[in-house]
Amino acid sequence: MRRLILSFLLCLGISSMNVMAQVDYEDEIQPIFNASCTSCHGGQSGVTLTSYSATMNSVGDQYDKKIVIPGEPNNSPLVDKIEPNPQFGSRMPQGGALSDEQISLIRQWIAEGANEVPTSNEVIAELPEGFELKGNYPNPFNPSTNIRFQVPEAVTYQLKIYTAHGALVEEIAGNASAGETSVPVSFRNQPSGIYFYQLVAITANERYLLGSEKMTLVK
Ligand code: HEC
Repeated sequence: MRRLILSFLLCLGISSMNVMAQVDYEDEIQPIFNASCTSCHGGQSGVTLTSYSATMNSVGDQYDKKIVIPGEPNNSPLVDKIEPNPQFGSRMPQGGALSDEQISLIRQWIAEGANEVPTSNEVIAELPEGFELKGNYPNPFNPSTNIRFQVPEAVTYQLKIYTAHGALVEEIAGNASAGETSVPVSFRNQPSGIYFYQLVAITANERYLLGSEKMTLVK
């Protein structure tokens, strides 16, 4: 049990520090097209892969739809054409193939919304003055407790609660104004045991990890 908790805390720690960088079109996708595609798809008509807007506006005639469907790699002709055995015509680049890494990068970029500029989802663990996770009260609890935190400005918060094994039990999001906020949590249908929670506060510009704590449900 001890080891499980430890490794789980480590997990939380790592995921919270991690800069979960999204794929950047200019830096990571366009160079693939420049190297492998634009020699044939650099023209004025048909599929054109010379820029973000050209790529997004390209229509695959054989598929009769745009080649990039944001959020849906499995439904995007662009992905179908670079994987083995496309629905129409031959695999791209014609006469060759991209590496698995390049294909998964393109898939990931589309899955993330096919944005031109990555939307930031970096969570900052170093807290400025005034941000604080104050723990939960009561603790141990049965079946209800209040998770309290303090922020110096209005935020949106995301509270995630996990079992000791790392399974997500509950996810609560809401708005909090400057000052102290108390989020009630009730575990009527959960078994006794240790739970972990992680709280993220989102301001206009940043996402802050307020902290990760553990709490104990005793029935
Ligand atoms: C040597 C020339 C050549 C290269 C390089 C090439 N293509 Fe193509 N591409 C073609 C031809 C010819 C077609 C039409 C025939 C077909 O679909 O097989 C085509 C068709 C396509 C289509 C489907 C268009 C439709 O009508 O539905 C997509 C999408 C596409 N290519 C993407 C790519 C991507 C992405 C790359 C780079 C990884 C690439 N192509 C590299 C020649 C090329």
